[in-house]
Amino acid sequence: MRIPFIAGNWKMFKTRAEAQAFAEEFKQLYKDTDVKTAICAPYTDLATLVEIFKDTKIGVGAQNVHFEEEGAFTGEISVGMLQDIGVDYCIVGHSERRQYFAETDETVNKKTKKLLANDIVPIVCVGECLEEREAGKAKEVVETQLRNGLVAISNEDAIKIVVAYEPVWAIGTGKTATPEQAEEMCEFIRDVLTDIFGEDVADEIVIQYGGSVKPANATEIMNMTNIDGALVGGASLKPQDFVNIIDF
Ligand code: 13P
Repeated sequence: MRIPFIAGNWKMFKTRAEAQAFAEEFKQLYKDTDVKTAICAPYTDLATLVEIFKDTKIGVGAQNVHFEEEGAFTGEISVGMLQDIGVDYCIVGHSERRQYFAETDETVNKKTKKLLANDIVPIVCVGECLEEREAGKAKEVVETQLRNGLVAISNEDAIKIVVAYEPVWAIGTGKTATPEQAEEMCEFIRDVLTDIFGEDVADEIVIQYGGSVKPANATEIMNMTNIDGALVGGASLKPQDFVNIIDF
């Protein structure tokens, strides 16, 4: 069945020296468990993390990627470049990229396909903003993001995808969705995935919840039927907090 997967998203935090200090401390505190774990870090920290975690089960992820192989795309990083460093995962379509960097469902789809073709696991983020939730449109918004973001992906590839449900109103605000609210949306996401890929595939896809996950609320979130993991922002920046979440 689905293996729990807890990933940290450092966003734009930590220099190389800070990443190294984190990784060394985290490696000491980390206990080998059946829970999969990864840190999604800024590009400049990736090689450092891969090196320090090389003899552990701790994975490393990027937070974005370009969908073209190579070319005149100043400032961008390709899938091949991530592969070359030894990256295992890549976040795609985070709400901050949708909001500030013009990420669309179409670019999410192109990036997801490119990552799958190159054996990097995409963590595809979906989620509604406060206005959309208050207008009763949360499900409609998430369904559109899923259907358009995951268009033309084979069942064989779909099994490898991780979906992260991150309600925008719960990110960095200290406002967590209640476990019931999160479960309702993750169950809905699984229903949409069932409709797209069939039940056998949808049952295998790992769905994470993200938005103000902390050691204090990780257990009740992880206990929900359709929530298989967490995408952790702020609380993944401190080794002890992140270990406590993985230990949920
Ligand atoms: P916080 O855990 O800081 O709310 O961030 C969530 C998030 O955006 C993870 O991708």
